[in-house]
Amino acid sequence: MLDKLKEIEKSALESLAAITDQAALDSWRVAHVGRSSPLMQVFAGFGKLSKEEKPVVGAEANRVKGALESALEEKAAAVKNAALAKSLEEEKLDVTLPGRSVHIGRLHPSTQQLRRVLAILAEMGFQVYTSREVETDDMNFQMLNFPPDHPARDMQDTFFIEADGRSDNPILMRTHTSPGQIRAMREHAATNPQNPPPIRIALPGMCFRYEQITARSEIQFNQVEGLAVGKNITFADLKGTIADFVRRMFGEGARLRFRASYFPFTEPSAEVDVECFVCGGKGCQVCKNSGWLEILGCGMVHPVVLQNGGYDPKVYSGFAWGMGPERQLMLRNKINDIRYFWGNDVRFLEQF
Ligand code: DAH
Repeated sequence: MLDKLKEIEKSALESLAAITDQAALDSWRVAHVGRSSPLMQVFAGFGKLSKEEKPVVGAEANRVKGALESALEEKAAAVKNAALAKSLEEEKLDVTLPGRSVHIGRLHPSTQQLRRVLAILAEMGFQVYTSREVETDDMNFQMLNFPPDHPARDMQDTFFIEADGRSDNPILMRTHTSPGQIRAMREHAATNPQNPPPIRIALPGMCFRYEQITARSEIQFNQVEGLAVGKNITFADLKGTIADFVRRMFGEGARLRFRASYFPFTEPSAEVDVECFVCGGKGCQVCKNSGWLEILGCGMVHPVVLQNGGYDPKVYSGFAWGMGPERQLMLRNKINDIRYFWGNDVRFLEQF
């Protein structure tokens, strides 16, 4: 019996030594220390042994059982460590690899410039008033003192929405933000028709013109219209406001000039130039050698326009201007082609 136990121990330890994975270890456990293993059979046959054999065989069987169990425990730990080492090796993570950068979205450059303009105007006390993009001929032209067939209409080629064009008040895409002046004045005047309140607003928004698309002209662009109406407003107020705006937008040292011009809805009218920031006024390609860059049109609101807005021109006066944020950006950043703005090329848009 003692020899048999030695044999059981030897063969069990030998087969344990060859094991490298958990599955084999599990079946080894069943085969060598499980209930029907040869070792357990020895325990089961204990009753048949003689009185003298019992203590000797019993002690030896217990020793073998202990030896196999501790060998199993040791092996189990070794198998577990090997499995861990293997998974660490296989799932190696290189923390020195460069990361993938997150793509951050941004506002369109026109929107950014529009906001800069409106932020400056807000500091100067101008409230934002938004008007509609689809207008009537009346609002876009008539009320602004462009009679039908007035040659000034040629300055603004128009997208008409009504196909036949025969209606005497066709629907169109606004060609400028100026019709918002009439809507804003009427809205304000309606609150107190006998004594309308003063107005100081900025009207931002998209305008549309039926143009050949070239480096210098687009069929859509933004404008920011300014309008101040009240009592005793003079051209000096217009000059001061524009000069202040130009310094805030283009820098303290920016020089500007007013040049007489013509618009049907203002009298007198002017255009404002700033000194070319590319050449500092010496003359270059950007300013076409004039040393100056035009940035806006402006003037004193025409009496007919005040009247159409519900403000009595004998009591009230006002000034207005219209400027283009895309144009300002082009000047500021030396962009030589307006088509970039709506071309949707991220290589352009990402630079802002
Ligand atoms: N509406 C004019 C345009 O689009 C710009 C303009 C000029 C607006 C003079 C004004 C103004 O309010 O006073 O060409």
